[in-house]
Amino acid sequence: MSLSIVILAAGKGSRMKSALPKVMHTLAGTTLLEHVIATAQTLSPLSMAVVCGNGADQVLPILEKKGIAAIMQHEQCGTGHAVIQAGSVFNDVDQVLVLYGDVPLTQAATLKQLIESGDINSLTILTTKLDDPTGYGRIVRNGDGDIICITEQKDADKATLSIQEVNSGIMVLPAKWLTDSLNKLNNNNAQGEYYLTDMIAVAVADGLAINTVCCQDNAEVAGVNTRQQLAELERHYQWLKAKELMANGVTLADPARLDIRGNITTGLDVYIDVNVILEGDVTFADNVKIGANCIIKDSFIGQGSIVLPNSMIDSSKVGEGVNIGPFARLRPGTVLADKAKIGNFVETKNANIGEGSKVNHLSYIGDTDMGKNVNIGAGTITCNYDGANKHRTTIGDNVFIGSDSQLVAPVMVAEGATIGAGTTLRKDAAAEALTLTKTVQKTVAGWKRPVKKT
Ligand code: UD1
Ligand code: CA
Repeated sequence: MSLSIVILAAGKGSRMKSALPKVMHTLAGTTLLEHVIATAQTLSPLSMAVVCGNGADQVLPILEKKGIAAIMQHEQCGTGHAVIQAGSVFNDVDQVLVLYGDVPLTQAATLKQLIESGDINSLTILTTKLDDPTGYGRIVRNGDGDIICITEQKDADKATLSIQEVNSGIMVLPAKWLTDSLNKLNNNNAQGEYYLTDMIAVAVADGLAINTVCCQDNAEVAGVNTRQQLAELERHYQWLKAKELMANGVTLADPARLDIRGNITTGLDVYIDVNVILEGDVTFADNVKIGANCIIKDSFIGQGSIVLPNSMIDSSKVGEGVNIGPFARLRPGTVLADKAKIGNFVETKNANIGEGSKVNHLSYIGDTDMGKNVNIGAGTITCNYDGANKHRTTIGDNVFIGSDSQLVAPVMVAEGATIGAGTTLRKDAAAEALTLTKTVQKTVAGWKRPVKKT
């Protein structure tokens, strides 16, 4: 059976009360639409398109980047109307899977089950049972349990409103039948829209078999219509991610106070304290410890390394047995060799820090290649920017830089050199020697401190 996928994403999402189209709101750092697209792509459909309308200027660049076809629905006249616009996408396949851009957490396995239970003479709807079905279309069955139609919340009478089995919006339909029958939809309903859900009654009349796959996990079929629902789904997703980490041998100080916005790989006995945010591709090797309030993005942290509280690490590679923080900021391109130490209020960027080297306090090390066992005193700054270009600083093994020194790049400090405290280094420093810029110390006798006026 050949498959097409149509993702509906043209709605405004009025209930979000936002200038952003609903499908561009993010869950775990990724737009709702991209969650749906990622799942859809795992099904390898023959063709796929996203129906856009509201906020298309924001949605189209995403589709372009991913090479996914966009279908414009200029006026949003309902989910059925949206599928009509996409007719060309599924005119030569067997089945069409309709996904909603605001239902982000459906699992690929569930969709596979849906696709497998449909064929060219039957239609399958993904449903679930909810304690509170408010807002969803209700699955209406006859005395024999056969589906007769889906009734939207706004069109439902009291008895229908009490039905707890709801429509996820997601269904797989026979393509040829759909193409031939979409013209049977009308907009005689409470919202004056062409509802895709009305195709169920049409299918019943046409004698098609109608199946349902009832999803056990409500979150898989939950649609985001309000910011509260978005927040609830975000928490659910984060709980799933936290459970995955714990199952893989990570201790979380509080699983409710960790946010994962990407793909995390972990070794054994990793410990993560509270209020940590992990973004992009992050790897923690065995025995890594992450302190409270750290934000780590696209980075690798080697075995046994410790990140103390309130540190930020972005696009960096950290070796084994390294100590970072508290209050450290590793910017992109930082590479720390084993046993290096980056202390409080230190910022690094595009810097290679050699094995066992220490930058313990209040320093900026940028565009630097640093050897082994270097000691950088407090308040050292690599002056890497001349206002137009960046320049590199090279520091050899076993160098000692005295506190409050400025290394004006491009500059080289040769192996074993010592730089006196308070030096402004404008020329290369020789190996195994003391280099300093001398400022004359003087005493002004009889000088009086200013006093406050009374
Ligand atoms: C829809 C279903 C409802 C189901 C619920 C599940 C219909 C008529 N109702 O209701 O049975 O329980 O989803 O979440 O289908 N869209 C367009 N063009 C339009 C209208 C909507 O592309 O003209 C898109 C929206 O961007 C959204 C999706 O379709 O991604 C669903 O639309 P929405 O208005 O949220 O439908 P619901 O009222 O939630
Ligand atoms: Ca919805």
